[in-house]
Amino acid sequence: MKDKLDNMLHSARELISTVASEAELQQIKIRFLGKKGELTAIMKGMGQLSAAERPVIGALANTVKDEIESLLHERLERTRAAEIDRRLQGEKIDVTLPGRRGERGSKHPITIVTEELVAIFAALGFGVAEGPEVEKDFYNFEALNIPRDHPARDMQDTFYITDDVVLRTHTSPVQIRTMIKQAPPVRIIAPGTVYRRDSDLTHSPMFHQIEGFMVDRDISFADLKGVLTAFVTSYFGDNVKVRFRPSFFPFTEPSAEVDIACVICGGGGCRVCGQSGWLEILGSGMIDPEVFKSVGYDPELYSGFAFGMGLERIAMLKYGVNDLRLFFENDTRFLKQF
Ligand code: DAH
Repeated sequence: MKDKLDNMLHSARELISTVASEAELQQIKIRFLGKKGELTAIMKGMGQLSAAERPVIGALANTVKDEIESLLHERLERTRAAEIDRRLQGEKIDVTLPGRRGERGSKHPITIVTEELVAIFAALGFGVAEGPEVEKDFYNFEALNIPRDHPARDMQDTFYITDDVVLRTHTSPVQIRTMIKQAPPVRIIAPGTVYRRDSDLTHSPMFHQIEGFMVDRDISFADLKGVLTAFVTSYFGDNVKVRFRPSFFPFTEPSAEVDIACVICGGGGCRVCGQSGWLEILGSGMIDPEVFKSVGYDPELYSGFAFGMGLERIAMLKYGVNDLRLFFENDTRFLKQF
């Protein structure tokens, strides 16, 4: 009996020393100490021993049991520690590896142009105003001297939300909103998004404009020419040639369009300028007395000028971009160049 117990302890010790997982330890525990385990069998058989042997073997069996239990326990602790070590090793971060850099964003060219134009006009004393993109017919047309059923409405293909609400077709309604709120003198620049039912190489159903206007006593066409010439030369350079060409807008009288000498051919004539040597950059004029009446300004007391331009067009001329759609495709290879 004693030999049996000694052998059992010996083989248990050997087995336990070789296992590497909790599951295997569990197996060993069952094998020796389980209900049908080897040690349990011996303990059950103690009844057959003599009265003299029983306490000796009983004490020994208990020692073997304690020993196996403590071996199992110790091994379990070590297995767990090893497991944690292994995991830590696997998760170790090598701080000497080079980092992964995130891509850096940049400003959209239309944003860049907007900010540059706003800065130029800020230096001339203009403040910034904004208006809604979903606009009442009144502000977009009616108050700008474009009555319903007037042929002038055909100048702009309009997205109608309801009979009375449109996606603004230009930034000019900001003139009306500002003047209704504010008495002269006013000097405002209003950049924003506008919408028209139009889509081809040079037109997009959504694009951007910047509007400007100035109202006070004794504002004349000379002020219009002075301010717009100052703007053109500070944006396109002192040497760029500028011309004012008679035009028509319902909300200005007289009206003029402003051209600059073609940035591609310098005025000699090429495909970009249609051989004319000139590129149109903005519309302008003296604010029509009818507009003043609809905002409650006295046209006998005040006069002013207004102008509006397409920002994509300005950006195309400034950066030599030949396809308007590039501004809206969000191709980072294009956008990164600004
Ligand atoms: N609103 C005009 C358009 O979208 C541009 C324009 C022309 C604005 C003349 C003005 C102006 O303020 O005086 O085509």
